Amino acid sequence: MPVKVLFVCLGNICRSPTAEGVFQKLVDDSGLSKRIEIDSAGTANWHQGRAPDPRTVAAAKRRNIDLSVLRARAVKASDFHEFDYVLAMDKNNLADLQDLKPADYTGHLGLFLAFGHQTQYLEVPDPYHGGSDGFELVLDLVEDAAAGLLESIQKNKLS
Ligand code: 4NP
Repeated sequence: MPVKVLFVCLGNICRSPTAEGVFQKLVDDSGLSKRIEIDSAGTANWHQGRAPDPRTVAAAKRRNIDLSVLRARAVKASDFHEFDYVLAMDKNNLADLQDLKPADYTGHLGLFLAFGHQTQYLEVPDPYHGGSDGFELVLDLVEDAAAGLLESIQKNKLS
């Protein structure tokens, strides 16, 4: 059975698709694409069915990651039956997920950046209403946490 990871933000058009794409590339490059499955979702359904924000797609493309094929969806309670890790981009997302989480969930629900090596940020700042710097910061934070997450999964689930 593959380990399944779900990244969650608010709209599923900026932060969590970035996490999905960055982590997918890392997993692919590590030869683990059959052992780790990845998806993303939003706590809101506002952008359901849409591609990621063009600024998010452009920023990721500069780092050789193609997010244009992804489509937004809302997180649902049944996701907890499927995913071993449900990772929130910020504390608001985490609170919403804790409300949705079935009482019998035995997987890991927490903040994605808790897996990071950097200690300055525990949340991925929402870049939606800001300038282009925000999208670069999202990528920097997500790349750092993705590396830590892969190390943790390899140590605790795949060894
Ligand atoms: P995300 O960013 O949660 O990282 O996808 C946002 C996207 C859209 C909105 C807010 C945040 N919005 O207000 O529509």
